[in-house]
Amino acid sequence: MFKRLVIVASTLTFVAATAAACGGGSGGGGTSLGFSQVGAESGWRTANTQSIQDSAKDAGINLKFADAQQKQENQIKAIRSFIQQKVDVIAFSPVVESGWDTVLKEAKDAKIPVILTDRAVDSKDPSYYATFLGSDFVEEGRKAAQWVLDTYKGSNETVNIAELQGTTGSAPAIDRKKGFLDLIGADPKFKIVASQTGDFTRAKGKEVMQAFLASHQKIDVLFAHNDDMALGAIQAIEEAGLEPGKDIKIVSIDGVHDALQALVDGKENYVVECNPLLGPQLMDLVKKVKAGQPVDHRIVTTETTFTPEQAAAALPQRKY
Ligand code: AHR
Repeated sequence: MFKRLVIVASTLTFVAATAAACGGGSGGGGTSLGFSQVGAESGWRTANTQSIQDSAKDAGINLKFADAQQKQENQIKAIRSFIQQKVDVIAFSPVVESGWDTVLKEAKDAKIPVILTDRAVDSKDPSYYATFLGSDFVEEGRKAAQWVLDTYKGSNETVNIAELQGTTGSAPAIDRKKGFLDLIGADPKFKIVASQTGDFTRAKGKEVMQAFLASHQKIDVLFAHNDDMALGAIQAIEEAGLEPGKDIKIVSIDGVHDALQALVDGKENYVVECNPLLGPQLMDLVKKVKAGQPVDHRIVTTETTFTPEQAAAALPQRKY
């Protein structure tokens, strides 16, 4: 009888251990994930970090989180430390596109799968990462440009555009500019009269907009690569005695709460969404790549756009 009880007990222990190892139930089954975040430069980034931390907790995944403070060398250090700690999966949102091949090869040699989230790398070797989960930034730039085209349809007057670019060398700055120019560049009445980086921050957006206003008599449209820079620019425009949304029309990308509020208040005109809530999909992918299951090499996030009316309807449920 005692022998039988011991057999039953040890069988149950084995079943529980196997379930944990396979990620059974809601748990990540002892899965460890090293995540290197860009920084905390924008409202979008804060929402993205929160989503990743909450989803890791919900999925029972042991998250080792490192904030790179917008520096590539900090991300490389963090990835090397994750390799040393032998985490199961590494994920990161690369601050810039180039310069990753060496560290990605180190992860590959250590047999640790890598997931790119939010931003891409320009590596030519697709085997350096298992999948890339994030937005289509070129499409976002096109959506912003389409709004400008529609707004000035039928007018023959020159439209002067100022552009606040994201972090130099980052995938969203490169791709959003490309998408915007793809459409705007086809019509000579649109002129980009000023273009500079505002590093995706509110403070820099304000500072650069002040410089634009000081050196350009007539700016009709501001295209900001993200909401935070647009919100900083709104302050600069108001301080210059102009009305944002009227004297200067504004289109930006992200869809954070404050930008939707600016739309409702008439200080912005159009917002293209970039979805930061990547956490649940990321945790799902982490479990799959750890288990050796196939995943798509590119997963594009679903996104929308906001007019002032659509912003008013969305604001009460907006989580970030
Ligand atoms: O990579 C996504 C971009 O990074 C967001 O548009 C911006 O707000 C963030 O800093």
